[in-house]
Amino acid sequence: MSEALAPLRATLDRQVIGHNDSKDALLLALVCREHVYMEGPPGAAKTRLAEVAAHASSLPFFFYQLHRDTRLPELVGDVVLERLEIEGGERIHHRIEPGGLLTAEICVLDDISRAPGEALNILLRILNERKFGDSPIPLLTAIATGNPMDDDYYNEPLDPANLDRFALQLRVQGLITSGDHDGARQLIDRYADGEVVEHPATEPVCDRQTLDALHARLADIAVPDPVKGALLELFRILVVEYDCSETNALLTDRSFLVKAIKLLRGRALLAGRDRVEPADLAVIEWMTTFRVPADVHEKVPEVISRAIAGVS
Ligand SMILES: Nc1ncnc2c1ncn2[C@@H]1O[C@H](COP(=O)(O)OP(=O)(O)OP(=O)(O)O)[C@@H](O)[C@H]1O
Ligand SMILES: [Mg+2]
Repeated sequence: MSEALAPLRATLDRQVIGHNDSKDALLLALVCREHVYMEGPPGAAKTRLAEVAAHASSLPFFFYQLHRDTRLPELVGDVVLERLEIEGGERIHHRIEPGGLLTAEICVLDDISRAPGEALNILLRILNERKFGDSPIPLLTAIATGNPMDDDYYNEPLDPANLDRFALQLRVQGLITSGDHDGARQLIDRYADGEVVEHPATEPVCDRQTLDALHARLADIAVPDPVKGALLELFRILVVEYDCSETNALLTDRSFLVKAIKLLRGRALLAGRDRVEPADLAVIEWMTTFRVPADVHEKVPEVISRAIAGVS
């Protein structure tokens, strides 16, 4: 674990029991300046994880709970009316005073699956392009949460192309259903002991300088040829053996040939290394969650092992 981020990880551990993958992915997102989407059933601590990571990183922060009537202005600032003097009179003109998503460096977009398609499309385009109109926005990382797309949860399925805006994608399960008995026991104990406060304050433990320094080091992390070979072999297996194609999968070059490299380096950096190792390919599993069919995604750890073995 990179020393620089140890306090952030410790804060997450103090506030949320279990969910190691989500915690690792959140740190990776912060270091790599990528967006992360966490999907899971109600009460699985998704919002809590997102909020703790955001608050603990002490960056200018925007939290927004999406809902069925979400409209864009709520996300990008206040609409202000201005009286302009013009020849022969005056004119009322409205403009957006940038706020929300336009001024934050980290944001939590809670329950994105509830937002209407139109607002969501624009929102996700802003995330992807990191600009609004022609102006760049300071956003580093967006952390979004959502409920599974089953009909039971009363929301429209999210378009996979929209989810592609989130480099990292995780399925979060509750402690009970994932069989994390130790974690479940710890949570019971905490509540039983009265240790839990409902909305605990999260102290900022990691500043912008620390994140900038880590990010600057990413480019110096070596990516050896065997790792590149294993990555290509992994894609070959997914396409040739598991029939991933343009119709059932989103194995985009942008995500898997560009962002994946950044994430591999990020994982090495978080592990305190200056070189990517084959084991870092595990990050691919956080990318394929909603980009390949669910049954193929389940096989990804196995595919990674085979890809590594195939080139070594
Ligand atoms: N692993 C956990 N560690 C600590 N607290 C937890 C954990 N799981 C659940 N809780 C408690 O349950 C609450 C519910 O979590 P949270 O609101 O983050 O769930 P959610 O996944 O966002 O649910 P929803 O989909 O309904 O929004 C937390 O605020 C916390 O009090
Ligand atoms: Mg929530």
